[in-house]
Amino acid sequence: MARIVRAFCLLVSLSFAVGSTPDNRILDYLKKVMNESADPCQDFQNYASGKFVELHEKEICYSDNVLIRKRYTDRLQSMFDLLKDRVFIDETSVEEKVWRYYNTCLTAPKNTRRLMAYLDLISPGENITWPSLVARGSQWPKEKFQWLETLAHLRRYGMENLLIRIRIEPDQRDSTKFSLYQYVPDGKLGTNLHTFNDLSTITSLLIGSGVGKNRAAPFARSVINLAADLEALAGIQSSNSGYYNLEDIVKRTGIQLDKYLEIIFGRPFESSFEIYIYNMEYLEGLNGVLRRYDNEVVANYLVVQLSLFLLGLDGRLVKRELTCTAAVAVQMELASDLLYKNYYLGQGKFEKYTKEVQRLFDALSQTFLNKLGENRFHLTDNEVSHLQQKLLAMSVTVGKMPHDVNHRRFVTNFYEDLELDTEPNFARAQLKDPKPHFFESGNTIVVPFDMLHEPFFVPESHDVFKMSLMGFSLARPILKSFEPYFLNVDSQGNLGQMLRDFEGNQGYIDALSCLNRTQAKEINKRASYVASLDLIYETYFGNNSEFNQNQPEFTDVPLKQLFLLNYAQEFVGTEKYLSYFESESDTALISESVKNLPAFGEIFSCPTSAPLNPEEKCPEDVLKFVGNESVVDHFKLVTRDGNSLLIGAR
Ligand SMILES: *[C@@H]1O[C@H](CO)[C@@H](O)[C@H](O)[C@H]1NC(C)=O
Ligand SMILES: *[C@@H]1O[C@H](CO)[C@@H](O)[C@H](O)[C@H]1NC(C)=O
Ligand SMILES: *[C@@H]1O[C@H](CO)[C@@H](O)[C@H](O)[C@H]1NC(C)=O
Ligand SMILES: *[C@@H]1O[C@H](CO)[C@@H](O)[C@H](O)[C@H]1NC(C)=O
Ligand SMILES: *[C@@H]1O[C@H](CO)[C@@H](O)[C@H](O)[C@H]1NC(C)=O
Repeated sequence: MARIVRAFCLLVSLSFAVGSTPDNRILDYLKKVMNESADPCQDFQNYASGKFVELHEKEICYSDNVLIRKRYTDRLQSMFDLLKDRVFIDETSVEEKVWRYYNTCLTAPKNTRRLMAYLDLISPGENITWPSLVARGSQWPKEKFQWLETLAHLRRYGMENLLIRIRIEPDQRDSTKFSLYQYVPDGKLGTNLHTFNDLSTITSLLIGSGVGKNRAAPFARSVINLAADLEALAGIQSSNSGYYNLEDIVKRTGIQLDKYLEIIFGRPFESSFEIYIYNMEYLEGLNGVLRRYDNEVVANYLVVQLSLFLLGLDGRLVKRELTCTAAVAVQMELASDLLYKNYYLGQGKFEKYTKEVQRLFDALSQTFLNKLGENRFHLTDNEVSHLQQKLLAMSVTVGKMPHDVNHRRFVTNFYEDLELDTEPNFARAQLKDPKPHFFESGNTIVVPFDMLHEPFFVPESHDVFKMSLMGFSLARPILKSFEPYFLNVDSQGNLGQMLRDFEGNQGYIDALSCLNRTQAKEINKRASYVASLDLIYETYFGNNSEFNQNQPEFTDVPLKQLFLLNYAQEFVGTEKYLSYFESESDTALISESVKNLPAFGEIFSCPTSAPLNPEEKCPEDVLKFVGNESVVDHFKLVTRDGNSLLIGAR
């Protein structure tokens, strides 16, 4: 332990020795990523961060998310390497388990980390193996393969997003209970669809899973076709959302969902048991799509999905090795958090970060609360109070561990049942991990430790840096629960009748169409970003701001420019957002956001002819359209989508 402390202190003192103050270092970083030959009034993203990719070329970082994650795992790695010298007295300690897991990854024989080793451990059902593992010369008994049973088996390993996606969530009618909710598979599947256009990736995954070289490409083609058919099915808009009982579901879809649940939960379900179905059309079409393909193709499709899941990577990275540190960070998330907190956030640092995050959150909430109180949307008193209570019920925590418990005890209990073999077998170790799926309350925003380091977030830095970047990361989830879609969810998490029809609100419809002047691929996402910038900007520079607006001494760059330059770090690099549908690029998101920020043109002295300084900003446009200034004065617009929110008032 003494050795760890010494090495740790060395790291800390090194980082203090470099540079002068956090402000100077952040500023320095901003200048390095800026591309000063670009025109901020034409292409703000390029101006603010055009050199990012060049600067981080060696780290193969193409976005801030990747960079932030990399910094975090690099720190974990130094910490794990220190564990090497430690003698463990307590075998049940979290450190011991993390070390053994990490060491298993480092030392396990190669054949235990191959895809086939995993497939061998996860069978698709009772008495049946995967087609690619069948001994040469024998037939795969395709009639025995039941895709639904296979899905249920895979779900035990944490794959909840395959063909059928059913989640356990607090019941919308009574948040003290849990219910099952069906969604169309997305997220992971959506990401992987990108991969599903790439014949060579699918082919090599299939070869890795044991499919013969000659057969792999034809199978890959069929798998790609199946993925495309599923994508089309998932894209059908549903008009039949609601609670259905199992008997109805089985009747309508031909899918034995009762059996599926029985395998997962290990107990039978009554035919009257209700599930909330978001997309009945998808479930009704699923059997038909799968029946068009041979069982072997369906099995291979699942193998490809399973491989992508196990690699823990999306398509673009499939061929890159996942480092052991990254594997521990993903697989033992809570344990990594505990160790990280003890080593890097000791000596009051954790408390300092928490305090600063809380301060930003409180300021954002206050601004938003004021907007709600002004009620320029002419909501009823009850409706306003409903929204305010909802906002007041939200909270923020730093790190994934719950904040009101003893962290070591919590994490130790969490991994109580995890026993690792003495013989290093990586596949076995990975599949044993309990896969943390704990529910954060919808009211709690979690700031992961990833973000807690320079240059992204430094408690001692100037507030302008903190509000522009961390503030933005907080604003987005706050606003998300104020999407029209979530407006009727109350402060307890229960679904009520209040504001159910907000989407039909004319002001809202007009606002969306205003933002759609340059055609949006994802109008809701665009709106969410525009609104978030608006909220942080007003919190910092608005009339009720408690933040210091004097020009800081460490630079001549005007304060408001500094704010926007740092905010723009959210949009660096070349990462494309992938989803089922064509999506908004970072460039469009940042351009639309600054374009609709009335102060932007003045801050960067843009002529009115500049693309990013149009005379008419969206709120004003809406204002004209609606013909009543007060209606749009506040609540510029409300939008819905997985990512977003309510456009704040001005
Ligand atoms: C910087 O901006 C200029 C002008 O738009 C552009 O030609 C150049 O490629 C940019 N540099 C980088 C590294 O992106
Ligand atoms: C699997 O095989 C065992 C032994 O042959 C048999 O008892 C069992 O019924 C089989 N299970 C299924 C689902 O076929
Ligand atoms: C945005 O514009 C496109 C093309 O003009 C249109 O198809 C789409 O419905 C519009 N979306 C909204 C929300 O107004
Ligand atoms: C802020 O205060 C100024 C001066 O009192 C006033 O003109 C302006 O309208 C106020 N802005 C907002 C958003 O209330
Ligand atoms: C405009 O808003 C006011 C309240 O601020 C309301 O009394 C009035 O009826 C509205 N006018 C129109 C045309 O909607």
